[in-house]
Order: sequence, then C-alpha cells, then structure tokens
Amino acid sequence: MKKTLFLLILFSAAAQATPFADGDADRGSKLFTKYECSSCHEAKVGGDGSAIFTRANRTVRSADDLIVQMERCSGAIGKQLSTQEKQDLAAWLNQRYYHFK
Ligand code: HEC
Repeated sequence: MKKTLFLLILFSAAAQATPFADGDADRGSKLFTKYECSSCHEAKVGGDGSAIFTRANRTVRSADDLIVQMERCSGAIGKQLSTQEKQDLAAWLNQRYYHFK
C-alpha cells in the first residue's frame, strides 16, 4: 500500500514536470544562433523569423511535435542535432513561444 502511494505521487509529479526539463534554455538560445535557425524562417515569414512560432496556423501543437519539427528543419540543412541539443533548443523555444506544460 505504501509502495503504491509512493508510485502514485511519483507519477503525478512526473506528469506535471515541464517538458524538456533536461534542456537548458540559455544553451538552446546559443544553438539557435549557431545553427542559423532563423535563416529560412526569416525568408518565410519576414522580420527576424520568430513569427513562424506564433503564426495562427503554426504546425507545432505539442512538445512531441516540437522535437519532430526541429529534426525536419535540421535535416534540411544536413545537421544532426544530438539529444541534448534538441532538449536545449526545445527548452528555449518552449520558454519563449510555445509554453507547453
Ligand atoms: C532549411 C530551412 C530551415 C532551417 C535552416 C530551419 N528551419 Fe525551422 N522551419 C522551416 C520551415 C520551411 C518551416 C515551416 C514548416 C511548415 O510550415 O510546416 C519551419 C518551421 C519550424 C518550426 C515550427 C513552427 C510552427 O509552425 O510551430 C520550428 C519549431 C522550427 N522550424 C525550428 C527550427 C530550428 C530549431 C532550427 C535550427 C536547428 C530550424 N528550424 C532551422 C525551415 C527551416
């Protein structure tokens, strides 16, 4: 019984943890510059490109979508992001634009 209660608490805590908890938003911000992530986005939506993350018909609807889209984008420039880099970039984008919980 005690063990079940402990597991329950553990799982509910995990469910509430923010996504990309292993990511570092500051590092993500630097990676975003390093990989020139804005370059295509600027061409597509103008300005500094950030409108791509806030447009009404944005494609990313969940934390999982975010990872998938970043893999697509980095693949398009022949870059393979490491698991940690994806977490860092996602942490930054989530903190700034998406606010997934
Ligand atoms: C080769 C061009 C290109 C590069 C470089 C690029 N992107 Fe993208 N990105 C796109 C395009 C095009 C879209 C819009 C896709 C769509 O409309 O479905 C997009 C969309 C996105 C979105 C989804 C926006 C939404 O609709 O919610 C995210 C997140 C994103 N990019 C992240 C990144 C990150 C992080 C990098 C750097 C590692 C990056 N992109 C580099 C072309 C690029």
